[in-house]
Amino acid sequence: MRVTIGQVREMKRKGEKITMLTAYDYSTAKIVDEVGVPLILVGDSLGVVMLGYDSTLPVTLDVMLHHTKAVVRGSQKAMVIGDMPFMTYHISVEQAMTNAGRFMQEAGCQAVKLEGGVTVEDKIRRIVECGIPVCGHIGLTPQSINQLGGHKIQGKTPEAAKRLIDDALAVERAGAFAVVLETVPAPLAALISKKLAIPTIGIGAGAGCDGQVQVINDLIGSYTDFVPKHAKRYAQVAEVIKTAVTGYYTEVKEGKFPTDAQSFTMDESVLESLK
Ligand code: KIV
Repeated sequence: MRVTIGQVREMKRKGEKITMLTAYDYSTAKIVDEVGVPLILVGDSLGVVMLGYDSTLPVTLDVMLHHTKAVVRGSQKAMVIGDMPFMTYHISVEQAMTNAGRFMQEAGCQAVKLEGGVTVEDKIRRIVECGIPVCGHIGLTPQSINQLGGHKIQGKTPEAAKRLIDDALAVERAGAFAVVLETVPAPLAALISKKLAIPTIGIGAGAGCDGQVQVINDLIGSYTDFVPKHAKRYAQVAEVIKTAVTGYYTEVKEGKFPTDAQSFTMDESVLESLK
């Protein structure tokens, strides 16, 4: 049985910190799941860290479904959350419901995430009414990067902070089971976390949130173009890969790989008969 939204709610009630982490493929999802991370997000951040785009905007629904299916196959216990990409829920409530449904039916995940607060309240409500758990996402919403004018801290002025609180309340009112707060001053995120009954999951939003989410490539050091301020490197995987690839490259060139250990034999008489 996978983690349920009831268990996530209960974690907030008990003051138990909630861990969410991204994964985009079978093997990584398997590791994250084995560790016991309760929430795996198949984030559209994969467009940047896996596919090399400079934003999440080019990521399509088909790409997200493809990766979400792999993560579902790789995990057994975690709740898998599919991230609805740019323009797959903005046009109408019907479009949002149809595409959220595709995540559940085709990819087999247990919840979807979408960006926005007051402006997507109606969409969240109808998706939830269809029986699909929704995680909200407010603050720095990367799909609106052109509107926001860059990766800026959100909610710094009294007006912006008030708007962010309104967004958080709208997401909760619509029936979301949790909300991601991205790049928000820590004291404001802590205040929002107190105001909401649903858990807040922070990324660059300080320790006062009910949980934390990170992009796994930032955490393990496999994406090296830049390190966001909110990320902490727990490993240097790019270095590990480089050492392995260098070893392979060198040994092939020097005729040291493969050895008998990596080769297959055959009956000598069969070989003789061919000569
Ligand atoms: O796409 C993503 O990985 C996200 C997280 C950073 C919250 O939205």
